[in-house]
Amino acid sequence: MARNKISVIGAGNVGATVAHKVAEMEIGDVVMVDIIDGLPQGKGLDLLESSPIEGFDSKIVGTMGYEETAHSDVVVITSGVARKPGMSREDLLDTNKKIIESVVGKVVENSPNAILIMVANPLDTMTYLALRRCGFPKNRVMGMAGILDTARFKTFISMELNVSIEDIQTVILGGHGDEMVPLPRYTTVSGIPILQLLPEEAIDRLLERTRKGGGEIVSFLKTGSAYYAPGAAAAQMVEAILKDKKRILPCCAYLEGEYGLSDICFGVPVKLGANGVEKVIEVELNAEEKELVSKSAESVRKSIAALKL
Ligand SMILES: NC(=O)c1ccc[n+]([C@@H]2O[C@H](COP(=O)([O-])OP(=O)(O)OC[C@H]3O[C@@H](n4cnc5c(N)ncnc54)[C@H](O)[C@@H]3O)[C@@H](O)[C@H]2O)c1
Repeated sequence: MARNKISVIGAGNVGATVAHKVAEMEIGDVVMVDIIDGLPQGKGLDLLESSPIEGFDSKIVGTMGYEETAHSDVVVITSGVARKPGMSREDLLDTNKKIIESVVGKVVENSPNAILIMVANPLDTMTYLALRRCGFPKNRVMGMAGILDTARFKTFISMELNVSIEDIQTVILGGHGDEMVPLPRYTTVSGIPILQLLPEEAIDRLLERTRKGGGEIVSFLKTGSAYYAPGAAAAQMVEAILKDKKRILPCCAYLEGEYGLSDICFGVPVKLGANGVEKVIEVELNAEEKELVSKSAESVRKSIAALKL
């Protein structure tokens, strides 16, 4: 039986991290593609040489061409410029639009049955762009953001309460920007609502830090943006798909009426399995939450409009 094939486009910080994680998980062989001569080859070989130490049998290869990506089961698209201090994700739109448009055609040509996971920013907009350009059904194109955003919120809750991250559950809706919609009403520690464990002031502070979580890392790093947590998040999506786990995870998915929204890629809880996005799950929202969701959707729509498709 052939192994699964996972291709990662862009062998930069996020791409190499995803490649490393999925190789360690032994969920498939990995192909990394980049346009910088030597970068994917060098990182690919270096990662492969870590396999005898770490004890994984996945093969990893880095290349500048797409032939090696042929018949991929999952393709993670990380190619694109990252933020520097003072930049918003929207500032990346024009450059990353060109990169994504140049990449998607080659991916599709070589792997017409793959599932695409978008990572490049602005995330919801690049997911929409990829969906429009690849011609795949909506279940086979999605974006990674919600797993990262919820991971940040969980981290801050765990730090505040000094409890295990394993017991924290939460839901975040909306676009992957400062207007994301974390839902404290759906946040629990071992089933206990967070609202019973922390005062409102503390929750608001953690929510604000979560919304600006990407910017916080950018302001530390100065030369780029986060990649360990984003890489782990994308790898978790690949695992859910290739192991057909039917996990319920927050992902950017194309909506057709869910949450009252249509023709938009937006962060929502989905069931993730062998068929990609197998179901969008709608949670009940109160008036205030609905208002925040529509504000977030408005800014994603503005960004999608800037694509001028
Ligand atoms: N969705 C999220 O939550 C999230 C989180 C972190 C980063 N990101 C985004 O992911 C993208 C990558 O971030 P990074 O930190 O890895 O950046 P990086 O600069 O380290 O890596 C990007 C890589 O893409 C490559 N590339 C550029 N054009 C290409 C093309 N046409 N074909 C193949 N490769 C190409 C570059 O050579 C570079 O190696 C950025 O757009 C960033 O904003 C998204």
